[in-house]
Amino acid sequence: MRGIVVGVDGSENSLDALRWAAFEARLRDQVLHVVGTFTTPIMSTGYEVAVPDSSDLESASETMLRAAVDTVRMDGDLEGVEVTTEVIEGHAGERLIALSKEAALLVVGSRGHGGFMGLLLGSVTTYVVNHSVCPVVVVRPKTEEDSADD
Ligand SMILES: Nc1ncnc2c1ncn2[C@@H]1O[C@H](COP(=O)(O)OP(=O)(O)OP(=O)(O)O)[C@@H](O)[C@H]1O
Ligand SMILES: [Mg+2]
Repeated sequence: MRGIVVGVDGSENSLDALRWAAFEARLRDQVLHVVGTFTTPIMSTGYEVAVPDSSDLESASETMLRAAVDTVRMDGDLEGVEVTTEVIEGHAGERLIALSKEAALLVVGSRGHGGFMGLLLGSVTTYVVNHSVCPVVVVRPKTEEDSADD
């Protein structure tokens, strides 16, 4: 699979990454593979262990990915780009690295939905930057100054 792979978790920053990847895919005339991953959490109350149905999580991830692609498409940012979408179960970093073996370029946001304010790079991005086989682009969130330039 030669082409550009972009990881999307539904966060604003991952949508910025998707827009950047689409622009690059158009320049290079390459297919854009939009990938979302999910893992099944195991929840323990102390008395019992609950494992959510992974098909529910899969369809929630599909809905998230479709919404992300629709948003960017409605803004016209996917025009002229061939797009495929894929939801994969597993650790995001590991899954993206597996895809990097065949990709021309891997694109991620610097941050995602996750936790700590002030962190410059999220854990998935740190993993990807350290392990990718193909070149990686890390897309920073837009600053207010960038918006003023638009
Ligand atoms: N589940 C996922 N599927 C696909 N890509 C993902 C996923 N999670 C993160 N990414 C990619 O990695 C980028 C950075 O997200 P990351 O998870 O590393 O940061 P974070 O959520 O801010 O922090 P953390 O998850 O480490 O608390 C996202 O913008 C997206 O491009
Ligand atoms: Mg995250």
